[in-house]
Amino acid sequence: MDTIQITASKTYQVLTGQGLLCQAGKLISAALPGKARKLCIVADDTVDRLYSKALAESLLKAGYETVKFTFPPGEASKSLDTVSHLLEFLAESQLTRSDGIVALGGGITGDLAGFAAAVYLRGIDFVQVPTTLLAAVDSSVGGKTGVNLTSGKNLAGAFWQPSLVLFDIDTMKTLSYDLLLDGAAEAIKAGAIADKELFAYIQQAPRLDAPETIRHLSQRAIEIKRQVVEADERDTGVRQLLNFGHTIGHAIERCSDFSISHGHAVAIGMVICSRASLALEWSKEDCLRPILSSLKKFSFPLECPYTAQELTAAALNDKKRMGDKITLVVPLTLGNCTLKTIPVTQLEEFIKAGLS
Ligand SMILES: NC(=O)c1ccc[n+]([C@@H]2O[C@H](COP(=O)([O-])OP(=O)(O)OC[C@H]3O[C@@H](n4cnc5c(N)ncnc54)[C@H](O)[C@@H]3O)[C@@H](O)[C@H]2O)c1
Ligand SMILES: [Zn+2]
Repeated sequence: MDTIQITASKTYQVLTGQGLLCQAGKLISAALPGKARKLCIVADDTVDRLYSKALAESLLKAGYETVKFTFPPGEASKSLDTVSHLLEFLAESQLTRSDGIVALGGGITGDLAGFAAAVYLRGIDFVQVPTTLLAAVDSSVGGKTGVNLTSGKNLAGAFWQPSLVLFDIDTMKTLSYDLLLDGAAEAIKAGAIADKELFAYIQQAPRLDAPETIRHLSQRAIEIKRQVVEADERDTGVRQLLNFGHTIGHAIERCSDFSISHGHAVAIGMVICSRASLALEWSKEDCLRPILSSLKKFSFPLECPYTAQELTAAALNDKKRMGDKITLVVPLTLGNCTLKTIPVTQLEEFIKAGLS
């Protein structure tokens, strides 16, 4: 079992290994000593069918009483409406401040259940049990929780750190290759901002779905996320580097009406951004080549079906954007990115340089 300790507003461990789900009760009681008595498992219907039983049995064995809240899979469930139902369920189940929530699932479950944990009784403990690679390498660590509003994604939320993160690599066996790719994109992004060696590793790594590859990618990505979160928990500075590939990635998601998934869009966004930074001589070396060959090694589809004009319009429509400037994350050297603020009028030219 690998352990990474995160020291933010809460200190907690991220445990990675095989067969952890069956040990969850023991591991959770070590992280919440003498505290929680009742735990609410939160899962979408798919993950519930696959993994709730093993988790609940392990919790029961460790002396916990469990209740379970399930919801339909998909981004539409990441809403205030679902949070409202979950909060009512917690109250009906009489969870107290010494009880807790276990988020069993992907990023949607973690964001949703974490947000409910942040606001129920003004905050109760929660444990993240990520079952997608994206959740393991990105969303389960760092304490960003929240839901979508009709006006846009992730517009309501809270910073609320988990008390423990348990990543059982065996749960990756049921994940589709496309979902594995979504997580791999975020791991490659982490490498691009802080770990040049990850690219050498990927070149000689076995297949993406090999447990050893998953273990290595997740450990490196979590370690980088640890450094960034510890330096800037509330996302006012260096944490913004985690958005490498995301401004254009979000535009691609929007242009595709979200039929291109987040990780796939971020992969294309990183390529566009690296190619443009190279062409405009903002990068001090060719970061495009290693990023591109790592993405190709895992067979990412990298075709961008949209024009610079379409992507610019979608990027500038982002409700989170402020004023007449936009901040991009650009690679300086491999493993070292920087923030670059440009006037919005230059964005189309930048994207054009990245598409050619
Ligand atoms: N909080 C953060 O810092 C942060 C960071 C990145 C992304 N996110 C959020 O994460 C969400 C996306 O996360 P996601 O891609 O994990 O989505 P998700 O939670 O919807 O999971 C994707 C799909 O995989 C299924 N699934 C999950 N685990 C499985 C398994 N082991 N086997 C088979 N199927 C499984 C789910 O049922 C779902 O249909 C977005 O809402 C995004 O905004 C949050
Ligand atoms: Zn992302």
